Amino acid sequence: MRNKVTIVGAGNVGASCTLWLAQANIADLVLVDIPQTETMPVGKALDLLQAGPIVGYDSRVVGTANGSYDGTENSDLLIITGGLPRKPGMSREDLVGANQQVVTNIIDNALPRSPNAIVIVVTNPLDTMTYLAYKHSKLPKNRIFGQAGILDSARFAAFVAQELNVSLENVHTAVMGGHGDEMVPLIRYSTVFGVPLSEWLSADRLNAIVERTRKGGGEIVNLLKTSAYYAPGAALAKMATAVLNDQKLIVPCSTYLEGEYGLNDICFGVPVKLGRNGVEQIIELKLSDEEKAMADKSVGIIRETMKALK
Ligand code: 2OP
Repeated sequence: MRNKVTIVGAGNVGASCTLWLAQANIADLVLVDIPQTETMPVGKALDLLQAGPIVGYDSRVVGTANGSYDGTENSDLLIITGGLPRKPGMSREDLVGANQQVVTNIIDNALPRSPNAIVIVVTNPLDTMTYLAYKHSKLPKNRIFGQAGILDSARFAAFVAQELNVSLENVHTAVMGGHGDEMVPLIRYSTVFGVPLSEWLSADRLNAIVERTRKGGGEIVNLLKTSAYYAPGAALAKMATAVLNDQKLIVPCSTYLEGEYGLNDICFGVPVKLGRNGVEQIIELKLSDEEKAMADKSVGIIRETMKALK
């Protein structure tokens, strides 16, 4: 049986994710958007299908018109990218009002057609939208989670590799916490060739890179006048691949916590093991007092944003 993935939201993040996933050659892909965009997803999907013979992928890519979910039935994975992106000057948290109905509508339309799907959320504000999607869907918590930490860790890694003029292959970085400017870069657990970052970089340079990582999404919003999409799309494709290939890949994801890290009733970015059953294990790292303080601040911001949920 071929895997099937439905990507809802055919904007920049959804289309980039579809492209990366098509190249991964692991699933047939269905691209869906809202009724107002009419035949746009059909056109994007056809364009992506026609790239297959050139690039050498064999994924069947189709789009639906006028917001229809017909053709998404029995998807193994559902990726929710729909919603408004940020504009310059906006925080991710500013989007909570606009995006909550988008997320619940997608769940209501997509899930009845694919009751066994695993769901990945990327709509912002990420942790709050993942929480909303989890509660609204009533799915078991392992089957619905959000993307954030892979992207944040990738930004951190890219900046470190650039600074040290080393291959990305040598860099391993870890970021946990909410997907916001108060995320928690785990410097102690980040290495180059297995050697802690603090031995490669002065405290000042390390702090500057951490700060740039935290504001990494905003830096791109200011340059692009909209949110990033290539790296977010790639991060989604990596998560989808880990699930479909039952990879047991440990990556940070926003997941519903029930006591882990001393937290309850919140979706928060922590390292998890991703496999065919979604979040198969939550990994509890020992945090230092400083890391705990950063995590508390990040939790506070998410809880504040959650108050705006209706
Ligand atoms: C970012 O950090 C879109 O939230 C996403 O770029």
